[in-house]
Amino acid sequence: MNGAVMDIIVDIRLGSPTFARWEAMHLSRQNQRGVFISAGLGHAFMGLSASATLIYLCSTPYAPTFEHAVNPFDPAISITWPGGTRTILPTGTRRRRSTPWRGPACSRARLPAMRMWPASVGPRAFGREVTASLRSAGASGPDLVALDRAGLDITDTDAVHAAIGRYRPDVVVNCAAFTAVDQAEAREAEATRVNGDGSAYLAAACGAWSARLIHVSTDYVFRGDARTPYFEDDPPGPRTAYGRSKLVGERAVLGRLPNAAVVRTAWLYGSHGHNFVRTMLGAAERGESVDVVDDQVGSPTWAAEVADRIVELGLRPDAGGVFHAVNAGQASWFQFATEIFRIAGADPARVRAIRTRSLPARTPRPAYTVLGHRRWRDMGIGPPGDWRSALRAALPGIRP
Ligand SMILES: NC(=O)c1ccc[n+]([C@@H]2O[C@H](COP(=O)([O-])OP(=O)(O)OC[C@H]3O[C@@H](n4cnc5c(N)ncnc54)[C@H](OP(=O)(O)O)[C@@H]3O)[C@@H](O)[C@H]2O)c1
Repeated sequence: MNGAVMDIIVDIRLGSPTFARWEAMHLSRQNQRGVFISAGLGHAFMGLSASATLIYLCSTPYAPTFEHAVNPFDPAISITWPGGTRTILPTGTRRRRSTPWRGPACSRARLPAMRMWPASVGPRAFGREVTASLRSAGASGPDLVALDRAGLDITDTDAVHAAIGRYRPDVVVNCAAFTAVDQAEAREAEATRVNGDGSAYLAAACGAWSARLIHVSTDYVFRGDARTPYFEDDPPGPRTAYGRSKLVGERAVLGRLPNAAVVRTAWLYGSHGHNFVRTMLGAAERGESVDVVDDQVGSPTWAAEVADRIVELGLRPDAGGVFHAVNAGQASWFQFATEIFRIAGADPARVRAIRTRSLPARTPRPAYTVLGHRRWRDMGIGPPGDWRSALRAALPGIRP
């Protein structure tokens, strides 16, 4: 570097024993020191010379979407800045796995103490993403109880009440669901039993034990024939058995617990379980060509971004109702696949566009289920960012 700066690092990881503590160090051309700032820490610096030049090396692509600013003058952290301040550039270095800055009061708030997550054997296993976000938010030990279907069958109302009574969680995140879209057509009663009745039992038990419920839902609650995004207050109209069963669940939850949060998401990918991104990365790596439908449009979404927001909602009992947790923008599966190939350094021409009708008949998928979001901003929570930026940030951590 050239010149000299005072560099401040603040621990903003909720639940960390050193939460809100800060350290300062002097970096200059003379002392040639560097500093390593790990994920979850806040960071600011002040110029001590007339000009200063720093070189940053980032472990992942820099994605402003995932950064959260920390006020370097926040009295709650009381950083002692030397006199003669010239330039201060606050850069919250909150990466995808860290927690929101809310001031030291949060260090005393109990983090979500429980989530229902259905098994690592689940095909996509969003519950594992939620667990990862909770862990990086500082939840551990008895404060984080993860239950799979063997640990709790949500269609067993007595077991649900007993579990909530035993663990007395502050927050329950319901990731359990019957998600097999094709099978649900023939087994709608079974799908509704899990997605509708099971969700209702959870809501009733959470109500009885004063726990907050965050309930995960889907874009399939919409008809799928719009041409502009569906927002949180648009009327649902599911056309699949899966979508109907999930809507029964949403209504059961909000009917019993109006302050519950229903988080609709879509087209999830991440580092856990099978998902479209991993499949495409595998094809790209093996040099294969793929045929991908170009007439179904939705919201490709990095599961970690949704999981992080679920943690934020867990800390906000005032944030009830429906939230759309998807990355911004829209893409067809073909455009999504092309972008994956491109970012992975494979030839995007190996992705060929096809029409849905050329595939073997199965349950019709909604043609257009792009979700728009307004409620995050209303609640002062940063909404998930653009899907392409999210994909670029996520890909280095995803293996085929
Ligand atoms: N993945 C997506 O792209 C996507 C898109 C929109 C919405 N969502 C929503 O996200 C949530 C999580 O989905 P996911 O992708 O993680 O699906 P998933 O991998 O199929 O996980 C669902 C899990 O629920 C468990 N389960 C089923 N019945 C249960 C019961 N009676 N009691 C307890 N657990 C039960 C399943 O356990 P078993 O493995 O034992 O069957 C399975 O592991 C769901 O609400 C889904 O509607 C997902």
